[in-house]
Amino acid sequence: MSASSRPRPLRKMVLPVAGLGTRFLPATKAVPKEMLPVVDKPVIQYVVEEAVAAGIEQIIFVTGRGKGALEDHFDHSFELESTLQSRNKTQALTEVRAPIQAAGNVIYTRQQEPLGLGHAVWCARHLVGDEPFLVALPDVLTDPAAPCLARLIEIYGETGGNVLTLKEVPLEEVKKYGIAATGAPRGDIVEITGLVEKPDPERAPSRLHVLGRYILQPEIFGLLETQTRGAGGEIQLTDAMARLMERQPFAGQVFEGGFWDCGDKIGYLHANLAIGLSRGDIGPKLRPVLAQLQLEA
Ligand code: UTP
Repeated sequence: MSASSRPRPLRKMVLPVAGLGTRFLPATKAVPKEMLPVVDKPVIQYVVEEAVAAGIEQIIFVTGRGKGALEDHFDHSFELESTLQSRNKTQALTEVRAPIQAAGNVIYTRQQEPLGLGHAVWCARHLVGDEPFLVALPDVLTDPAAPCLARLIEIYGETGGNVLTLKEVPLEEVKKYGIAATGAPRGDIVEITGLVEKPDPERAPSRLHVLGRYILQPEIFGLLETQTRGAGGEIQLTDAMARLMERQPFAGQVFEGGFWDCGDKIGYLHANLAIGLSRGDIGPKLRPVLAQLQLEA
């Protein structure tokens, strides 16, 4: 690929966090679901850390009412930090400061009404401007042991255009997800030729579902602007992507690592156990607890 045809660099990530989290009520009445902890970190912190490690420079949160805890989490807490400092709690101090990004690199805008994921992404249009960007659904947690975003960005460097992370699910689960129609794979890269929202298993074009990590070209904003309401009466990102596919190429990253949907109670509990078990400080103590529970069940 010549320098002139190299894809435009990817610098910005949009995190839509304005949803109501109704599947997690009453926990999410006053606490954003993206702030629910997986072991000891809010679920959103995992994807922010992964994105920054993969080279993302600016993070745009699309928030809504009652989401102030998110802004506080990614900012200094001077009282807490000075108390920890005076008590020589250096490890805790490091952890409290870890989510804080360089000044000016975190930007907030609001989606005044939760009109759907597509609408939330559209709310970030002036902050993204005319450049490609990453969208990540923060309640989808990918296994930190198998970083997904670094490879997604690498694939974008090869293919340009739009790139979505895809993950195979069992056939009986395809009706829960957006499913991709694809060409023949080339390693972990496939061409995406279509998207079908929540198909019946017999009509599904594949078992590859759209995981919640998207690299999109800014032309998506013009399509979101005119996008009519789709499934659930919401403005769906999938519908606008299907229209963009008529004009621009879409590639898929076939992701082999694990993931958990932390917006769902079972997915959330599973993530806590899996990540807890994988950690050196928690796993050895958690394993006998689980064995005991299994004996009692
Ligand atoms: P979800 O559909 O998982 O979130 O959207 P939700 O609507 O909050 O959840 P339930 O179904 O009611 O439990 C995925 C991501 O998109 C954001 C959510 O905050 C979540 O991070 N989102 C969704 C928005 O920002 N705005 C919306 O209008 C909808």
